[in-house]
Amino acid sequence: MTIDRLAFRDCLGCFVTGVTIVTTVGEDGEHVGLTVNSFNSVSLEPPMILFSLDRGAQSLLIFETSGHFAVSVLSDVHEALSNRFAQRDTNKWDNVATRIGANGCRLLDGAMATFECTTYAQYDGGDHVIFVGNVIAMNVDPGAKPLVYYRGAYNSLSAVA
Ligand SMILES: Cc1cc2nc3c(=O)[nH]c(=O)nc-3n(C[C@H](O)[C@H](O)[C@H](O)COP(=O)(O)O)c2cc1C
Repeated sequence: MTIDRLAFRDCLGCFVTGVTIVTTVGEDGEHVGLTVNSFNSVSLEPPMILFSLDRGAQSLLIFETSGHFAVSVLSDVHEALSNRFAQRDTNKWDNVATRIGANGCRLLDGAMATFECTTYAQYDGGDHVIFVGNVIAMNVDPGAKPLVYYRGAYNSLSAVA
C-alpha cells in the first residue's frame, strides 16, 4: 500500500490529543518553545514521557543540546497561545505569563498540568527526533479543562464525547 502524505495526516488526525507547549533553555539562556501534540506517556516507574520534534524546527539544536525540557499541558482557554507557539519567526514570549521551573525551563501560567524533565534519550524518528525525558517535577490544576486537537482543529471535550 502506498501511504500518501496528506491521507496519512488525515488518518493520524482521527487520534484525539491534547495540546502542549514544550520548552527548553540553552546554555546561553535563550528560552525556546513550540506547540506539540505528540506528547505521550512512556513509563510509570521510573516516570518518563516523550514527544517528537520536527527536524526542521528552529528550536531543534537547543533541545538536542540543553539536556532538559518542560511540558505545559494547555487548557481550553489557550487556543491563541497554541497558535502563537506554532508559528516561526515570532516573538513567542511577548506578554506570555510564565514561571521558571526546577530545571530552568519556562512553564506556562494557567497550564492544566506541567512536567519538568531531564532528557533521557533522543531517538531517530524519521523526519522527527523522539525526545524521552525523566520527570523530575510535575503539577496539576484539577479545575482546568484541556484544549483538545482533533482532525486538524481545536475542539472541546463535550464536542467530541
Ligand atoms: C496542534 C499542533 C500540534 C503540533 N505538534 C507538533 C509536534 O508534535 N512536533 C513538532 O515538531 N511540531 C508540532 N507542531 C508544529 C510546531 O508547533 C511548529 O512547527 C513550530 O513553529 C515549531 O517552532 P520552531 O520552528 O520555532 O521550533 C504542532 C502544531 C500544532 C498547531
